[in-house]
Order: sequence, then C-alpha cells, then structure tokens
Amino acid sequence: AAKGPLSGRHVVVTSGPTHEAIDPVRYIANRSSGKQGHAIAAAAVAAGARVTLISGPVTLPDPAGCDVVRVESARDMFAAVARVLPADIFIGAAAVADWRVEAAADKIKKRQGAAAPTFSLVENPDILATVSRASNRPRLVVGFAAETRDVIAHAKEKLLRKDCDLIIANDVSEAAGVFGGDANEAHLVSRSGVESWPRMSKEAVAAQLIARLADILDRSEAA
Ligand code: C5P
Repeated sequence: AAKGPLSGRHVVVTSGPTHEAIDPVRYIANRSSGKQGHAIAAAAVAAGARVTLISGPVTLPDPAGCDVVRVESARDMFAAVARVLPADIFIGAAAVADWRVEAAADKIKKRQGAAAPTFSLVENPDILATVSRASNRPRLVVGFAAETRDVIAHAKEKLLRKDCDLIIANDVSEAAGVFGGDANEAHLVSRSGVESWPRMSKEAVAAQLIARLADILDRSEAA
C-alpha cells in the first residue's frame, strides 16, 4: 500500500443500496448509486489505508486496491461487516434498507380474479448502530444521513441515536440531484458542531473526509 496519512490503518466502508428479495425474481431497492461510498474507499486507499469495501449491488467498477465484498441484502451486509472487523475507521455510506419482507420461496403468481398480494415489512438490523456499540468498536464510526428535509436536525438526532462520531448529512431531494449525480453538498455533523462544505464532486468530498478522519485519529492519539 502507498505511504500516507492512513498507513497502517484498516478502513471499512459500506456503499451502494441493498436489495431485499420479495420472491426469487423481485426485490425492493433504492436509488443509491454507490458513487460516494466507492469514492471514499478509493480515497482511503490513496491515503495508504488497508480498505475493505462492502458493496451492495452497483454498476460501478471495484476501486483499485480494496478488498471488495459484494452483498445483496441488509442482512448480508451486516454479516459481512461483522466478519471484516476490527477496523480503525468504519464509514457507513450504504443506503441500507430499513425493512425487508419475509421473502417467498417461489415466484408470487398473479391469478385471475385473486386479490393483489399484501406484504408486511420486518425491520432490518441497523449496521451502523451495531458497529458503534460493538465491543470491538472502531475508533471512528461515521454515518451518512440522506434526507429530503431538515437535513441537519435529522443528522444531529442520528448521531446521538446511533452513537457515531460523525454524520455526513446531505440533501437527496430531487432538486439537489445528489442521488446518482456526481456532486454532493455535505454537512459534517459531530458532537462539537456542524461544518457545511460547498458543493463539490463526490471524489473531492471523499478526499476531504478521509483527510479529516486521518487528522482526528492522529490528534486523538497524540492526546
Ligand atoms: O436512519 P438512517 O437509515 O437514515 O441512517 C443512515 C445511516 O445509517 C447510514 O450511514 C446507513 O449506512 C446506516 N444504516 C445502517 N443500517 C441500517 C440502516 C441505516 O447501517 N439498517
């Protein structure tokens, strides 16, 4: 690995959406492209870290220099994260489905005159909250908050509820064009306050975030 501010560190990043099966041919998904999470993994490699990227289904190429674990569902992602810890830094950039359905073993058939099926949802495990509270908790745990309104208020609430060190909040309302787009407008929310960054490419957000995390780790060790 390259020498850099994260040399000798292990960084685990989740990225992309999850797919929650309804039956063998159908699933519930979301609009996450994985661009931000993959850019963060690449930036961590560039900073000299050993990087494990746990990715839901995306159309992006694997970033060079990472160990990539491909998963489908939230439960798969949860298990994969548990397997690859411990780490110095965990960054949960994936848009993990909050709920799944109890998947049917066979394709659900449409039958003449029959009522439409109804599904009840079951809650998925919260990967970020679980990592934050694990006995082998990484030194830095970073989450994302994709919101369509009250972005910063929700991020503050999430920081406390999920016990993380930092939440990167962004506006994913359609007008902001963040989901699937190449740019991001990020707010860094920590216990000490909020820092709003100007709109920039997802690569630039990734590089700045990684530089900041390396700095926080160094300072906390010097203290
Ligand atoms: O509460 P919300 O889902 O908006 O929180 C988003 C953050 O929590 C993201 O960092 C996401 O990766 C993480 N998350 C998770 N497991 C879930 C749901 C969200 O790790 N089941």
